[in-house]
Amino acid sequence: MRIVKTFAECRSLASDSTGLVPTLGFVHEGHLDLMSRCRRENDLVISSLFVNPLQFGDPADFDAYPRKFDRDAGLMEAADVDVLFAPSLEEMYPVEPVTAVVVKGITESMEGAHRPGHFEGVATVVTKLLAGIQPDRAYFGKKDAQQLTMVTRMVPDLSLPVEIVACPTVREADGLALSSRNVRLSDQARRLAVGLSEGLFAAADLVASGERDGAAIERTVTAQLAGMSAEYVTLADRASAEPIVQLDRPAFLAAAVEVGGVRLIDNVWLETDGSSDRGRRLDETSILYGEAH
Ligand code: PAJ
Repeated sequence: MRIVKTFAECRSLASDSTGLVPTLGFVHEGHLDLMSRCRRENDLVISSLFVNPLQFGDPADFDAYPRKFDRDAGLMEAADVDVLFAPSLEEMYPVEPVTAVVVKGITESMEGAHRPGHFEGVATVVTKLLAGIQPDRAYFGKKDAQQLTMVTRMVPDLSLPVEIVACPTVREADGLALSSRNVRLSDQARRLAVGLSEGLFAAADLVASGERDGAAIERTVTAQLAGMSAEYVTLADRASAEPIVQLDRPAFLAAAVEVGGVRLIDNVWLETDGSSDRGRRLDETSILYGEAH
């Protein structure tokens, strides 16, 4: 695996089919799934590691974001990544930027409503990665459903010559969605946090038994959030990320909570026929808690 610091070097390595997996680092099995799918579908696999200050509203959250470069590089190498792109702040933002990518509508509810400026930061950095690296395919997780909806829509809107590939959410054995932030959960918060996925799965079960009413579906999640403070529980259209009151089109049911000072998000994908995509569970504890941590 090569560790590369500049866009120009990344482009010089491009192959007939180049896949990109953008990350903020502190790699877990969710990231590794994107990398292994990328490996299967491309000659060259590039993964980027850049903790993007533009997408963190709160400087304290940016500072607290876990960073372990050598650990991440080792895991990426083991995942058969060809190129680790780790740009400096100066490579990413050589001059104070006056240009930003703003996606309307999709970014206004849920995460957008609770994290002002977050999606502008994500849209801008993702556009820069796609423009600077020019991959044929880019891999994103369903775990960040609203982000995925946004990135998918940016492609036709900006005529980006890339295919966006969506990958399922990877979870701990008890259901908690993997997130780099999970390492900040105290034991007590970790025990409570499982209620988030349990609520979403209970709602998916309700949908499987015939419920289509948005309020009833959302209430099922809220009822399971004991010990956590819910920021939102929203049934949303998967194409527009707009809240909907009936499950009458492809949707996701998303929630954000705060538990023990850590903010967590999760979702399940719901179809009008009552089926759902809840992701997959690991058999063992995540590498997030391994020796390398
Ligand atoms: P990050 O949170 O590091 O996630 C990188 C990619 O991994 C995203 O596409 C995310 O959806 C996916 N991912 C995270 N947790 C997952 C899980 N449990 N299962 C499956 N996929 C998961 O998302 C970002 O970084 C940033 O916003 C980024 C796109 C890199 C732009 O800075």
